[in-house]
Amino acid sequence: MSAAIIDGKAFAATIRARVADHVARLRDEQGTAPGLAVVLVGEDPASQVYVRSKGKMTKECGMQSFEHRLPADTTQVDLMALIARLNADAQVHGILVQLPLPAHLDSDLVINAIDPAKDVDGFHVSNVGLLGTGQKAMVPCTPLGCLMMLRDHHGSLSGMDAVVLGRSNIVGKPMAQLLLGDSCTVTIAHSRTRDLAEVTRRADILVAAVGRPEMVTGDYVKPGATVIDVGINRVERDGASRLVGDCDFASCAEVAGAITPVPGGVGPMTIACLLANTVTAFCRAHD
Ligand code: GUN
Repeated sequence: MSAAIIDGKAFAATIRARVADHVARLRDEQGTAPGLAVVLVGEDPASQVYVRSKGKMTKECGMQSFEHRLPADTTQVDLMALIARLNADAQVHGILVQLPLPAHLDSDLVINAIDPAKDVDGFHVSNVGLLGTGQKAMVPCTPLGCLMMLRDHHGSLSGMDAVVLGRSNIVGKPMAQLLLGDSCTVTIAHSRTRDLAEVTRRADILVAAVGRPEMVTGDYVKPGATVIDVGINRVERDGASRLVGDCDFASCAEVAGAITPVPGGVGPMTIACLLANTVTAFCRAHD
């Protein structure tokens, strides 16, 4: 293995410590702390793990955590009513609805019902539009975490060739916008892209966000490139359950200059950015 490991776990811990300091100061100055409401509908096991972890870290940073766990058969009307209550609640500065929602619920309607100022996920169309036009937006947590690691590793990203593999609203599209904002030449590749490995091999920065375990192998990577692995896939291996990324770590690390591991790369950065976004929402509300 030749690649440097980008330690997202350690970086996230420093961001959380900074958030905790900021929260303590806000509590002193304003007599109140930021509050984050997380809504989980149904019993998806991965979502339950993420929501538990978000709640725990929110409290560890000194913020208020409000968890709303709703049954899988919750109606659209009831969910919209909860969002309206959270929008009106002065103790709640950030609202996150864990995705995916059960199939009978319209997630676009739900996301766009969230007050954009409390939309710490940055998924509301107002925030998507602000980001796309280079204005002050709530920025989606996973791409923001990836950008922070890339800036930390490289300094300036200006002029670099970046390929984002995946075109989701949660990661791929906002990641491309952020890299463009940092003056990269950006390509969004996806499952229909022809000669995929030939396209990804042009990348100085390769962000893999396809949700397919270990799909990206070393032959997709330009020698010396930086590989950011957004995938978190649970697989059964040798009778045990393991988390793997969208990249085959061993073969990619042979070729890359730097790579994020799974676990311990992008995942912890996503939660740290969520906490930072909640503090940002609080500060903007108290300006
Ligand atoms: N599901 C997977 N990633 C995310 C995320 O960043 N935010 C929300 N709300 N749901 C998700």
